[in-house]
Amino acid sequence: MTRRPASVRIVATGGTIAGAAPSPRDTSGYRAGALPAAALLAALPLQDDIRLDARQLASLDSKDALPELWQMLARELAQAQSDPGVDGVVLTHGTDTLEETAWFLHLTLALAKPLVITGAMRPATAISADGPMNLLQAVQVAACPWAARHGVVAVLNGRVHHARHLRKAHTHRVDAFDSGEAGAAGFVQDGYVGWLSPPRRRPPRFPPDTPLAPVDILFDYPGISTSMVDAVLRAGARGLVWAGYGNGSISGRIEPLLREAGRRGLAIVRATRTGAGRVAHPGTGDFIQAAGLDPYKARIALMLALGAGTPPAALQALFDTLSYE
Ligand code: SIN
Repeated sequence: MTRRPASVRIVATGGTIAGAAPSPRDTSGYRAGALPAAALLAALPLQDDIRLDARQLASLDSKDALPELWQMLARELAQAQSDPGVDGVVLTHGTDTLEETAWFLHLTLALAKPLVITGAMRPATAISADGPMNLLQAVQVAACPWAARHGVVAVLNGRVHHARHLRKAHTHRVDAFDSGEAGAAGFVQDGYVGWLSPPRRRPPRFPPDTPLAPVDILFDYPGISTSMVDAVLRAGARGLVWAGYGNGSISGRIEPLLREAGRRGLAIVRATRTGAGRVAHPGTGDFIQAAGLDPYKARIALMLALGAGTPPAALQALFDTLSYE
């Protein structure tokens, strides 16, 4: 019996992978999202074991991606999951906020088929552009049914990363992404997809149409003004992620203000600005501890949790659990 080719859908949203610069030498002076999905597909040396179709959902620089885009993508990708003609999906995205989109989708989508997100650090017009290889390898992972067991994954520079650990850790190198201390989930080499970690998929935590509560992030620094906290309160935030020192420590002048804001109903998550490590419970009831989530992932978790009406008493357990998603 001959197997039919795998059908992979490309959902394009712009980014540097679709970027165009005036000269092939330029790797920073370019316009993100300038090229259509068809141009990205044309650069792929596919064999006849994979069939592609493409949808252009946006043509953005991902610094301008708003939470509404996450929700629109979740709807589109949920529909692709239930399409019998689609075996796997690749989302092309700017690298600047790729980790936020991947984490939102991981928390909201039930995956029966692989969902792989990719981007590029060099525009498509640059010599040695990384986009075509990233896209080819993302397609190869999307054609591998086992990938769905890992939840949303990103494929960049030959590595597969879980959405839970993925982070952009460099401004310009093609090797800009890593998974911190957790390490990569797998790798791709000439079409071979190797897994370095066991599957980790659990059911999604929130429906894709969960309303998103306004949540801000503040970073602590020596001499921080108390007006920062006032500004967050005045803007009507329902939650605040405090990216504190070390184990989530808060400047002494600020801590009473935060405790007071917490008593008045602001949900406050203590995270760390260090870039790695778990924020442990020091026995304080006024704050939720981010546990293993970095400030950006903690913010999205809190936006969803508050929007879904999660009771305050259940928030700490949610963060503890999400650390292991
Ligand atoms: C963007 O995030 O859209 C621009 C930067 C990039 O994709 O590397």
